[in-house]
Amino acid sequence: MRLTPANAHAHAPSHSFKVTLPSLQEKKRSHVPIVALTAYDYASARIVDEADVDLVLVGDSLAMVMLGYDSTLPVTVDEMLLFTRAVRRGVRRALLVADMPFGSYHADVREGVSNAVRFLKEAGAEAVKVEGGRVRAELVRALIDAEVPVVGHIGLTPQSVHRMGGYRVQGKTVSAAEHLLDDAHALEEAGASLLVLEGIPREVAARITQELTIPTIGIGAGPECDGQILVLHDLLGLNHGPAAKFVRRYADIGSQMREAITQYREDVTSRAFPNDGESYHLAAEARVELGAAAPSSKLKKA
Ligand code: KIV
Repeated sequence: MRLTPANAHAHAPSHSFKVTLPSLQEKKRSHVPIVALTAYDYASARIVDEADVDLVLVGDSLAMVMLGYDSTLPVTVDEMLLFTRAVRRGVRRALLVADMPFGSYHADVREGVSNAVRFLKEAGAEAVKVEGGRVRAELVRALIDAEVPVVGHIGLTPQSVHRMGGYRVQGKTVSAAEHLLDDAHALEEAGASLLVLEGIPREVAARITQELTIPTIGIGAGPECDGQILVLHDLLGLNHGPAAKFVRRYADIGSQMREAITQYREDVTSRAFPNDGESYHLAAEARVELGAAAPSSKLKKA
């Protein structure tokens, strides 16, 4: 069979095993760091998966980096499902986690469970992520009863931006740090499989990581976490505003895109694109019959 872009993925060699929640828990036990990253569309999800990232999160950060909102709050369940389905088609090896958007699990537990089930049933997610500490324990228990694995998320939880008064580091006082520890234990006891720690002091994240048996995944929470996650657009330099302190930019794809698009505009306006080699041609007889001119030597050379 000829490989086309559409079917090549289906035939790509599977070079390593499928990541599962138990395999991530085993990584914690054997002190092997877990690598996690967000993805929001098929093309980038394939690249992330083929780079052997362990966990792909369809984060509600897509509200900001893909949809241009100034917070994560406006994105809906249906929008998150659309992006999750696209990512599902690109991910084979990594564990696929979908974010539950703001408002989809806050009003009552039954509604939270039915929304979460949609991510597994309609979009192929393998777990959902919910923000919040002990206040989510009842929901987490209900999700586990419904066979929906849960990733918790505490610390700087972007869906609480208005309560926090902005995107501020959390857990900086002794009582706030103790509160986070209690939240972490409450989520583990309720049955969460993993815990994202965002925007908290390194020392607090280290203590939580040490005390929990489930893996912690840090973002702005220091190197002692069992794994790390970044927003793909931050890592690639594809964002517009200033980056947070914890972001390490591994590429400047935004500048490369700007240069490529400027070059394309110049080539189109100067007629340097497309050249003869980038054009289709009539056969010689058809050209003669139609009285069509042979391509000019000027264009041919270009
Ligand atoms: O929405 C998101 O991308 C996230 C990660 C930053 C953890 O929640």
